[in-house]
Amino acid sequence: MEQEQTTPGTEILIKAAGPIVIASKCIVTKADGTVEIKEKASFCGCGHSANKPYCDGSHKKYMESTPA
Ligand code: FES
Repeated sequence: MEQEQTTPGTEILIKAAGPIVIASKCIVTKADGTVEIKEKASFCGCGHSANKPYCDGSHKKYMESTPA
């Protein structure tokens, strides 16, 4: 029996110690209630961004200073 394939509507990429990337158009409702429509969005998954909820690239600096 052939397995049925479905196509998901949204691709979400979770990077190790880095951002969570929504790779398609999305609506972002922030904690303060503001709403933004994005073609794609990268959310901070490391906790170090100065522009939360979005990634500002700070995870790269954090990873460099953290021993493996
Ligand atoms: S994941 Fe990039 S700043 Fe946090």
